Amino acid sequence: MDIKEHIRQIPDFPTPGILFYDISTLLADADAWQVTMGRLANAVRSHQPDVLVGIESRGFLVAAPLALKLGCGFVMARKRGKLPGKTVRYEYSLEYGTDIIEMQEDAIAPGQRVVVLDDLLATGGTMAAAVALSRQMGAEVTGAACIIELSFLGGRNKLDIPVTSVVAYDE
Ligand code: PRP
Ligand code: MG
Repeated sequence: MDIKEHIRQIPDFPTPGILFYDISTLLADADAWQVTMGRLANAVRSHQPDVLVGIESRGFLVAAPLALKLGCGFVMARKRGKLPGKTVRYEYSLEYGTDIIEMQEDAIAPGQRVVVLDDLLATGGTMAAAVALSRQMGAEVTGAACIIELSFLGGRNKLDIPVTSVVAYDE
């Protein structure tokens, strides 16, 4: 099955000149979503994770069902100010300015094997931040995975771990 046929491309969203890769159409198709999750599961299983970290918000759609499928835990990496209790944070650079992601301080135990999941790898800034934050908590990050990789942006070069994507776009 060609998963790309189930990903909708919407020009000029959220701003003019940006091509948005929309997974709504993939999520809505039971067979295509099953196949996607199956491929992701095969790749991620080999990293033998204890826990999957999903990045808010679209990364949750990928990481939570995958964790259930693999029989491992699921941890949220959230945007600032969303998590209750004590949190740890990581600040990272955007094209303009900075952003922050957070996890609850007890979300990962030192030495746990972690794979970080998101729907899409673009510049890699978001994924690299989630990897750094997981390491800050003592995790052994064994891999990263996503559904869509925009290869032409070179995001995987920001990561020093194996990166798996289900589909990649070269331009
Ligand atoms: C998008 C996407 C990834 C990130 C990739 O999230 O879901 O998380 O951008 O970009 P990068 O590789 O250049 O860092 P977005 O911030 O749009 O938020 P959302 O997931 O909440 O929709
Ligand atoms: Mg996102």
